Amino acid sequence: MNHVAQTMDEKNARDPFVDPVPIVIDIGSTTIKAGFAGEECPRCRDLPAAIGFFKHKPGCPSDVERYMLDIFERGYAVGDEVYLHRLDLNLNFLCERGVVKNWDAMDKIMRYLFYTDLRVDPAGRSLLITYNPAAQQADIEAIARFLYNMFHVSEVYVVPQAVLALYASGMDSGVVVDLGDTTGWIAPVYEGELIPAANQQFAMGGRDITQYLARNVFTSLPLLERPWPSDAFLIAEDILVKLGYVAKDPSTEAEQYVEKIYTMPDGRELAVGTHRYLGPEVLFSPRIAGKSLDPLDVQVRATIDRCPAEMRPDLYSRIVLAGGTSLIPGLGSRLEKEVQARVSTPVKILEPQPFGQSRQFSAWIGGSMMFSSIKLRRYLVNFIGD
Ligand SMILES: Nc1ncnc2c1ncn2[C@@H]1O[C@H](COP(=O)(O)OP(=O)(O)OP(=O)(O)O)[C@@H](O)[C@H]1O
Ligand SMILES: [Mg+2]
Repeated sequence: MNHVAQTMDEKNARDPFVDPVPIVIDIGSTTIKAGFAGEECPRCRDLPAAIGFFKHKPGCPSDVERYMLDIFERGYAVGDEVYLHRLDLNLNFLCERGVVKNWDAMDKIMRYLFYTDLRVDPAGRSLLITYNPAAQQADIEAIARFLYNMFHVSEVYVVPQAVLALYASGMDSGVVVDLGDTTGWIAPVYEGELIPAANQQFAMGGRDITQYLARNVFTSLPLLERPWPSDAFLIAEDILVKLGYVAKDPSTEAEQYVEKIYTMPDGRELAVGTHRYLGPEVLFSPRIAGKSLDPLDVQVRATIDRCPAEMRPDLYSRIVLAGGTSLIPGLGSRLEKEVQARVSTPVKILEPQPFGQSRQFSAWIGGSMMFSSIKLRRYLVNFIGD
């Protein structure tokens, strides 16, 4: 595929109502990324992977409340409405531990995605859905059956996110460490094939870091001046994205960290010091966040050591980061140092930015590219009628 050379003119010339370009959808536990095959990045980047139900019937008569009342009468909130009214909504998520379980939410979110967000009729089109590397055949078939039956798509391909993230990075062997919002996956891929017996879920994500920060970063403020818990979470996530980093050596970082000033949405200034690195440190010391898990580096080594011995040197030298949480500065070099500390084989962590886009979109970009490769054929899930 002449992926990089695609010009803006070509993109703009495409009419999604007429041109049956395949659709690529990366379903995360928190957000969905979706768009058209052949494009460099997803058009829809942060569709909430949940629908919302109002906790109370909204009052009247302000404009905002009238708008809320419309949503209330429809019965549920979807898409941007979920962000706008998140404090007034109970959320029903699509996935449980990375697997689609809530088919009512799936139906409403997919309808919104196709008809409102991408403005495309999926009937007769090919669809690529990304899935976590531990997906069971029954889960894969369930999602394909749903798409064939409800949207009359012509073909459904279901491809593991790790295979796609690696493909987007121009490799066919390596270990993908995909760190998302609620969970992570450590998945070895050898010559394009996932090694299912070795892959492992890392049961933490960016949300655990944000929760740690929300609990700790505001303690310097007087009790009554701290943000409400729901606001605290959103502010803490912004602090993580803007100021967070992983220390090379947390035992000496206390002598050299630099305090930064963060401006809160209400204009107040907050000094953030040690928590800049102590938050992300939960990945390497999950106990800080109250989780009895092995640290990330231990789980990466254990995953590679479960693979056949002859593959291990290749895998240790190609540990590929993917997912939004992998964007925390310093994560790659610290992981490399910790993994290397206990193995003699050379260890290399790669931090690809496919097409200059964020690693948060690696799996989606791999799906967009794979439509031009015959490698995709093996992921076709044939029509399964009810
Ligand atoms: N620049 C950044 N620095 C640090 N963290 C980031 C950055 N950008 C996004 N994140 C974090 O990445 C997470 C979202 O990552 P991603 O989009 O890969 O998750 P997901 O695919 O929706 O979820 P999951 O992989 O759990 O199913 C959030 O927790 C967010 O806080
Ligand atoms: Mg993801």
